[in-house]
Amino acid sequence: MNILAIGDVVGSIGCGFLRKNLPNLKKARNIDLVIANGENSADGNGITPVSAEYLLSSGVDVITNGNHTFRRREVYDYLDSAESVIRPANYPSSAPGVGYKVIDMGRTQVAVINIMGTVYMENLRCPFETLEDILAKPDLPKIRMVDFHAEATGEKRALAFYMDGKISALFGTHTHVPTADEGILPNGTGYISDLGMTGVIDSALGVKPELVIQKFRTKMPVRFDNAKGDCKMDCALFEIDESTGFCKNVERISIR
Ligand SMILES: [Fe+2]
Ligand SMILES: [Fe+2]
Repeated sequence: MNILAIGDVVGSIGCGFLRKNLPNLKKARNIDLVIANGENSADGNGITPVSAEYLLSSGVDVITNGNHTFRRREVYDYLDSAESVIRPANYPSSAPGVGYKVIDMGRTQVAVINIMGTVYMENLRCPFETLEDILAKPDLPKIRMVDFHAEATGEKRALAFYMDGKISALFGTHTHVPTADEGILPNGTGYISDLGMTGVIDSALGVKPELVIQKFRTKMPVRFDNAKGDCKMDCALFEIDESTGFCKNVERISIR
């Protein structure tokens, strides 16, 4: 089974680029399931019901999230009712939405799990214990894909090694910068520290560089507008053995 994971989709320009390119990639690479991080899919940051539905109608099967998920109030009720949108599982249980879903694909089922890091990020519940608890659920299918939305590569690699052999793959999101360490860990878990992003190439994480420069130089609040220009879509393609749940191959793909 081929599962595609797409890095943080930034703004309507990133969403539009995904919509234009995803159908061809799915066909060309026989992709069975698409997971995309949508925490920045709305213009002006966060995610809205409109941006989420746009991604889902563009060929994304499951949307994962991160630290920007709860910026827009209009998404709260949507998160509670959405079939295929999840948020990091280690938020307090009072937060809208859920941290994992089991996707029924007929012959097979796939668990998609979203966890957030705690290094240089919100002080949430321990990601290791949170994931351990989810993996202890008795009805969890063999195929388990984890989006670990985190800043520190050390934390990402540590969680992946801790769960090596217990999950099909762990891919990092949040930094918007792809890493070149994709591979298969010793016990069969596919891994990449960060997928990268879907958005404007000449930008600082999707934002107009001059605004980010201004923020760093003045330390004053600055409204971050999304950059304009040519886009890319950073992803990783995981080939998963359906009988074992282990990863057979990982390939980094960047569509430009
Ligand atoms: Fe992001
Ligand atoms: Fe993030």
